[in-house]
Amino acid sequence: MFSSRKVSLLLALGMIIAAGIFARAAERGHSSPNQKPGNFGYGEVATPEQIAGWDIDVRGDDGAGLPLGRGTVERGSLVFAEQCAACHGTFGEGEGRFPKLVGGAGTLRNDRPELTIGSYWPFAPTLWDYINRAMPMGTPHTLSADDVYALTAYILNLNELVPKEFVADRASLPKVKMPNRDNFIWTDPRPDTAAKPCMNACADPASVKITTTAEGKHLTPRTTGPLDTMQPK
Ligand code: HEC
Repeated sequence: MFSSRKVSLLLALGMIIAAGIFARAAERGHSSPNQKPGNFGYGEVATPEQIAGWDIDVRGDDGAGLPLGRGTVERGSLVFAEQCAACHGTFGEGEGRFPKLVGGAGTLRNDRPELTIGSYWPFAPTLWDYINRAMPMGTPHTLSADDVYALTAYILNLNELVPKEFVADRASLPKVKMPNRDNFIWTDPRPDTAAKPCMNACADPASVKITTTAEGKHLTPRTTGPLDTMQPK
């Protein structure tokens, strides 16, 4: 007679073997033309359209990634009244506990600084990016590029950073000088952030010596410290 422990061991072994056979079968017979070989048949190669759907980031300082389109302050005030004012207030003053989009100038050194687009944000293109990816809360990604430009123009105008004739587009937004821009520090002094990754004729890994670790500096718990796994043998 098998003990129940032996039975369950045999069952587990059987399942592992079956899973292996299944995976190899899947690996051989990938069916869709998009399916990626070498991944046990799982996943597909992303299409250019799928990649474009995710690739929406806009860089703050130079606005790289901003699409074609344009929007006026006036158009922005209409869209804002319809889609944003319920939470952010007609003039960006914030309803209830929803965030203010204006004000706070000169408060950054206070005990309770008021961080808004006008008082704190370093780059105007980031405002386009934020609205485009996240607002209106609840139904993001429903605004046209033109309306996002118009809303950006309106909010910048509410903050008195652009005149009411301002037209937001991919050329004008990076030129808007945000009041707090120069108080951000752009260089990261840590040496490893400046290191260039080596692409060829790189140092032999065996010659690399770890000269210091976080251990003993109360940064990393001893049990998960890097010494065992990272020190070249
Ligand atoms: C249902 C309420 C709601 C609506 C409608 C809404 N927002 Fe917001 N919004 C929020 C909340 C909540 C946050 C804060 C989100 C967070 O911090 O994660 C926010 C944050 C923001 C911010 C960032 C503010 C900051 O300084 O961090 C901007 C800009 C913004 N919303 C613009 C808009 C625009 C433009 C619209 C209309 C198209 C809109 N919102 C509609 C609730 C709303």
